[in-house]
Amino acid sequence: MSKILMCPPTYFGIEYVINPWMDMANQVDKNTVSKQWNNLKDTLEEAGAEIELIEPQPSLPDMVFTANAGLLRDNVFIPSRFKFSERQREMRYWIEWFQNAGYEVREIQTDLPFEGAGDALSGKVLFGGYGFRSSKESYKEIEEILSSEIIPLHLVDDRFYHLDTCFSPLNEESAILYEGAFDDESVQLLKEHISYFSVPEEEAARFACNAVVINKNVILPTDCPETEKHLQSIGFTTFAVDMSEFLKSGGAAKCLTLKLF
Ligand code: ARG
Repeated sequence: MSKILMCPPTYFGIEYVINPWMDMANQVDKNTVSKQWNNLKDTLEEAGAEIELIEPQPSLPDMVFTANAGLLRDNVFIPSRFKFSERQREMRYWIEWFQNAGYEVREIQTDLPFEGAGDALSGKVLFGGYGFRSSKESYKEIEEILSSEIIPLHLVDDRFYHLDTCFSPLNEESAILYEGAFDDESVQLLKEHISYFSVPEEEAARFACNAVVINKNVILPTDCPETEKHLQSIGFTTFAVDMSEFLKSGGAAKCLTLKLF
């Protein structure tokens, strides 16, 4: 059983602009938001996950994106250090939740930004995205805390500002990703560490790679037929969920989840 942390979208909305997807003129529809979030939650449960909830907080519209709370490895929780002040105010709630849940909270000492499981994802090794929200240097301290090497991946297309917007490991050996989001050196590093299917650009732009993997089940946004076809051809069952309201904030299925184990 996979356990996943989610945050109800009670206060979700577009209240500021901190990535190229967000636009104050493109507001969300509250009813659709709650329908889509509930459908995602039901689908994750159907795919075998148990959902834990953190209480949403007023004026913190992006708290719904639990992937950015921090990085969790076994019992150690490393809280994010958000780049933008708008999201820095979330931190006390994440830290409090993980402390109360019995995790060992290890805050990084550097003042460099690091945005948790939005940018750090593991296959056999841990990959760390940098360039927009997390700094490459922040990974040095994280490597020390976790005593494991992190493969740095340089993100170069601002539509894909977090690693989880363009890369999804499926298991230790394989992944789906959008090559255009990385510089050449990073594509080379990816090739050395994981085998992957490169999703077409138009599906990447619908956040095809923002997928939640639960054993042989993959939950991904709708309208990504090539990606679904590939996943099915290698033995995965796909679940497509409409994430249109969350895409307005630059997030989708995976951003709305944080795997607890
Ligand atoms: N509006 C949010 C932000 O820009 C979206 C976060 C998406 N999260 C993710 N893990 N990619 O911070």
